Amino acid sequence: MTGLTIKPLTASIGAEVSGVDLSKPVDADTRESIARALGEHLALVFPDQSLTPEQYLEAATIFGPPMRQHYSQHNMPDHPDIGLIWHRNGQRPADRWHTDHTNREKPPAATILYGVEIPSAGGGTSVANMRAAFEALPADEQARLMTLKTVNGLDNKDDTRPEDIVAYDKPIVHPMVRTHPTHGSKAVYFHVTKTKCIEGMTPEASQSYLNDLLERMINPDIVYHHQWRKGDVLVIDDRATMHRAHGDYDRSQARVLWRIIAEGDKPVLL
Ligand SMILES: [Fe+2]
Repeated sequence: MTGLTIKPLTASIGAEVSGVDLSKPVDADTRESIARALGEHLALVFPDQSLTPEQYLEAATIFGPPMRQHYSQHNMPDHPDIGLIWHRNGQRPADRWHTDHTNREKPPAATILYGVEIPSAGGGTSVANMRAAFEALPADEQARLMTLKTVNGLDNKDDTRPEDIVAYDKPIVHPMVRTHPTHGSKAVYFHVTKTKCIEGMTPEASQSYLNDLLERMINPDIVYHHQWRKGDVLVIDDRATMHRAHGDYDRSQARVLWRIIAEGDKPVLL
C-alpha cells in the first residue's frame, strides 16, 4: 500500500482520499483500507480520476459487486450496471433526502458517482450522517424506532419500465434502524417515498412520521455538501447516510454523473 491519504472534510462526515488511481488495479490492503474508511467517514471523495466504464466498474468492486439499477432506460447500453444521471433524458433531480434502492432484499452498501460533465455552478450532492442522526434522537424515540420496520417498493412508476416494475416492486421489509456491518454502529434507515408504510401504521401516518423525522434529524452539522468537479468520484455509504441532489443549476448546461450501486448485506438490527 503506497501513498493512501484520508483527510476528513467536516467534523461529522466525509473524507477526501488521495494517492489512489482508480483506473489501475488497487492492491488488497488498499482496498480494505478504503472500504473501512467508507464505514468510518460515510462519504469518500476521490478527486481527479479519469475512468473508462470498464475501469469504473472494476474500481466499484472495492465496495461490493455492482448491482443492476431499476431505471433500466437510463443504464448505459453497453455497460448496464452503470446508470446515467442526466436531466436531458427526462430525469428530475432526486432532491429529497433518501438512501438508494431500499426495494431490494440486499440494498446497496454504496452508491458511487463519477462526475463526467459538471455545470459551472450548483448541482451539488449532499450527504447526511444518519448514524449521528440516530445518536441525537431522544432515548425513548431511539427505542421506538428500533421496533419499527418499513415496507418498501418502487415509487416513481411513471418513469419505470413495466419489466422493471415486475422485477423490482415486490414488497421488501427493512428495519428502520440498522447496524452497520463493518462499523457496528446504528443508523436510521429508510427511503421516504419507497416506504409504502411502516408495519402497523397507515400509509398516511407513516409518511407523516417519516417526514417529521427527516425535518427533525437532518441539520447542517451532520451534512457534507459535495460541489462537483469533473473527475470526482463520490462514494456514499448507503447503510448509514441519506443523500439528495440539488437542482439549482443552469439547465442549459450539462450535468452528467455515472452511477454504480454496489450490493451490500441484508439490513439487520443487532
Ligand atoms: Fe439517490
